[in-house]
Amino acid sequence: MKRQIKLFDPIIDNNELSVLNKTLKSKFWADGSGSNQVRKFEEKFQKIIKSDSTVAVNSGTSALYLTLSMEDIKNKEVILPSMSFVSTAHAVVANNAKPIFVDIDLDTLCIDSNKIEESITKSTKTILPVHFGGLSCNLTKIKKICNTNNLTLIEDAAHAAGSFHNGKPIGSHGKFVCFSFHPVKNLAMPTGGLISINDNNYKRIIKKLQSKRWCGITNRIKTNYDVKELGWNYYMNEFSAAIGLVQLKKLKKLNKIRQQNAKRYFDELVCERKLKFDRNCSYHFYWILVKNRNKLRKILLEKGIETGTHYPPIHKFTMYDKKISLPNTEYAAKSIITLPTHPNLIKNDMDEIIKIINKFGKN
Ligand SMILES: Cc1ncc(COP(=O)(O)O)c(C=O)c1O
Repeated sequence: MKRQIKLFDPIIDNNELSVLNKTLKSKFWADGSGSNQVRKFEEKFQKIIKSDSTVAVNSGTSALYLTLSMEDIKNKEVILPSMSFVSTAHAVVANNAKPIFVDIDLDTLCIDSNKIEESITKSTKTILPVHFGGLSCNLTKIKKICNTNNLTLIEDAAHAAGSFHNGKPIGSHGKFVCFSFHPVKNLAMPTGGLISINDNNYKRIIKKLQSKRWCGITNRIKTNYDVKELGWNYYMNEFSAAIGLVQLKKLKKLNKIRQQNAKRYFDELVCERKLKFDRNCSYHFYWILVKNRNKLRKILLEKGIETGTHYPPIHKFTMYDKKISLPNTEYAAKSIITLPTHPNLIKNDMDEIIKIINKFGKN
């Protein structure tokens, strides 16, 4: 049978199996119920990303939603790219705020920091950039814009576990940084997410977030706890945290292999545009922009090679503002092919992918 090459492929071994078994037998499956895997994961991840504090939750979507709910954004505006997974914008709408989509930079496919200021109004409260594919957006400039205009920086770092900006880990820059540990991500769990907090007030913030992630309960340790506000159930479970702790140990090593694969793509692929090579990037995937991308994707799939089209632009969805025009986003969305970078790829896989794409480009 022809070898199938997946776009995403979590890297697992006996260590994941062993912690799953242990957690199962412990019968402590929920956060806070005894074996403290979630707490341990929060602490270990916080050390690696060098942030003030972390709160683990049950998905990247929850991380975005809860973080935005910490800001007073009702009827206000949040600036973000349309080139993202739809939950980046859903989290804004679910908090009764208005998403303001700004076009992307075609060199990075991240929000174009030069176009942000023209979208700022009296109602703007927050900038929500996405580190697309794991490549950090221009955080230096965006931070400056936030400071000048008194806006909060919330980063969508769903692709960026193990990425850096100017040599400092993603997770240590914005006031809030939201990670996803969806099974396809560089750090994979069955489901999971995390909010990193960088703020002088982090102790107050963390308390509020911990309460918000579990039904508004203020102090779960005490039996006579209070509930001061509406909250829902967003906690991470112990199985996810246990897998996450194992995955975290190998994240750096596996991201290095992703970088080696990305370097080959960057050095060898001949195409219209491609993701640059940058050692700060976690390379959640590698992207290229090509003409007739559907045709090329079909050829690759016939050879057993799975690719992606991250993303259909959010502003084109029926529930969003279909009328606005974002030329770079629309061009990239119809020409993008996302390619696998995961460490299960062998040399022959890379050789074949590169050969097919370059042959297609010559025709
Ligand atoms: C850019 C981006 N933001 C947010 C999310 C949401 O994360 P999750 O699937 O863990 O809810 C994802 C992942 O799927 C994503 O890729």
